[in-house]
Amino acid sequence: MFKHLSAVPGDPLLALIIAHKNDTNPNKVDLGVGVYKDDQGNTPILNSVKKAEAILLEQEHSKSYLGINGAPEFPPIIQELLLGENNPIINEKRIFSAQTPGGTGALKVAADFISSSLPETRIWVSDPTWGNHLPIFRSAGLQIETYPYYDPETNGVRFDDMMASLKENAKAGDTILLHACCHNPTGIDLSFEQWKVVTDFIAERGLLPLVDAAYQGFGDGLDEDMAGLRHLASKIPNMLICNSFSKNFGIYRERCGGLSIIAETTEEASNAYSIIGLSIRANYSMPPAHGAAVVFTIMSDPELKAEWITEVDAMRDRINGLREKLVLKLAASGVSKDFSFIRNQRGMFSYSGLTLEQVRKLRSEYSIYIADTGRMNVAGITDNNIDYLCNAITQVVG
Ligand code: LMR
Repeated sequence: MFKHLSAVPGDPLLALIIAHKNDTNPNKVDLGVGVYKDDQGNTPILNSVKKAEAILLEQEHSKSYLGINGAPEFPPIIQELLLGENNPIINEKRIFSAQTPGGTGALKVAADFISSSLPETRIWVSDPTWGNHLPIFRSAGLQIETYPYYDPETNGVRFDDMMASLKENAKAGDTILLHACCHNPTGIDLSFEQWKVVTDFIAERGLLPLVDAAYQGFGDGLDEDMAGLRHLASKIPNMLICNSFSKNFGIYRERCGGLSIIAETTEEASNAYSIIGLSIRANYSMPPAHGAAVVFTIMSDPELKAEWITEVDAMRDRINGLREKLVLKLAASGVSKDFSFIRNQRGMFSYSGLTLEQVRKLRSEYSIYIADTGRMNVAGITDNNIDYLCNAITQVVG
């Protein structure tokens, strides 16, 4: 039955985890998958999460099914985090949200919904975008188109090219994927002024925005990171938002995220939400409970919430501090390339500008694991490995 099948390469990012794990070099450095690490190189469980789990251990009284959309008390938590307290869209009941297995689960359900309900749509994604966006959208049968985004010359956004390409090619009814903040893989975000221009264009052309908000809190702050998304939502009547709690609550393996749909009226949003329910049922039936219970417990307890915000701030500050250190140490090492652009990037990632050849050399000669695209997870840098890393980069770059 399976004789005709040959093995296919696995996801390259996930393969890096295994390669790093199997590497016996004591100096190995993992800057691959987007997981936060502390200065000891560990991915800690947040204190607020530990406390919430202790409460849940006492209070949880059933493991019965949750229902396809997850816990009914969870959507307000998702909506307030994304849109901010008292956002009129929430008060007008134009947003419905489902608890999903991570941001990935939300993206798959959103893609299925778009594919079944808007069959003429094409989806526009930035060049580059998160490696898994493409397989997810392809698996839902969506036609994918790309718009220019990253400029290797300036290490910024090719904004004029992006807009020119969208103006020329995007048709009314198409979907456009935007990263709310901390663009993955580049770390380069649209400025608020650019969000305004994109918003006006989306309104004028009649596009459906699909916003991926996987790193809220890792850029400039929990609210600051949502400024572009909130502006978009205030001007565009329909949109989809996929968010992840993996990173900002550090609950990666619990698989917790959300899919939100905003429509012009409560009735339209509710109808669309019912169709989303079909895709959830067909894909995974119902979301896992634990992660959302943890998030809910934290967000509904003022003390735990305050502690969590402090912990998110600390993760962000550590990463931004590392960017600064990296820039200074690389410059001091005498490397021929100017890496000062790393300062302006946001979130866990830095598109380093290292070539595939340089990335491979770092891997084979120094046991430093960076994605093939040159994307580095800055959070994987520590006081112990930063000198080794800067020296290795200087050796391979020259
Ligand atoms: C990443 O881009 O490294 C993360 O989003 C983790 C993943 O699943 O790829």
